[in-house]
Amino acid sequence: MIRLSQWIKACSLDQVKEGQLFGFHSDDKKILLANQKGKIFATDLICTHADADLSTGFLSDEGVRCPLHLSVFNLQDGKPQNLPAEIPLKTYNVKIEQDEIYVEV
Ligand code: FES
Repeated sequence: MIRLSQWIKACSLDQVKEGQLFGFHSDDKKILLANQKGKIFATDLICTHADADLSTGFLSDEGVRCPLHLSVFNLQDGKPQNLPAEIPLKTYNVKIEQDEIYVEV
């Protein structure tokens, strides 16, 4: 089955202020939004190492740090910067239209 990507509306821009994380669910997808220095990134919400919700983690210049075992994931390519996580997070395209954030899933 071919699954075409589609843009889904995530939330309004003012729900993800600079330095903040925001998690949401859409059908079977669990997505994390992060506002790093005014730019919005979208990745999977659940850590690739175990079942940790990254929206309860910590955002820094390096990326998002998992709250459970503290791996940091780069927001552009999803790659873990330190163990124990070894598998990259999936990343998603983001667009902003009329102060609403959309993610391509
Ligand atoms: S659950 Fe995220 S690093 Fe272990």
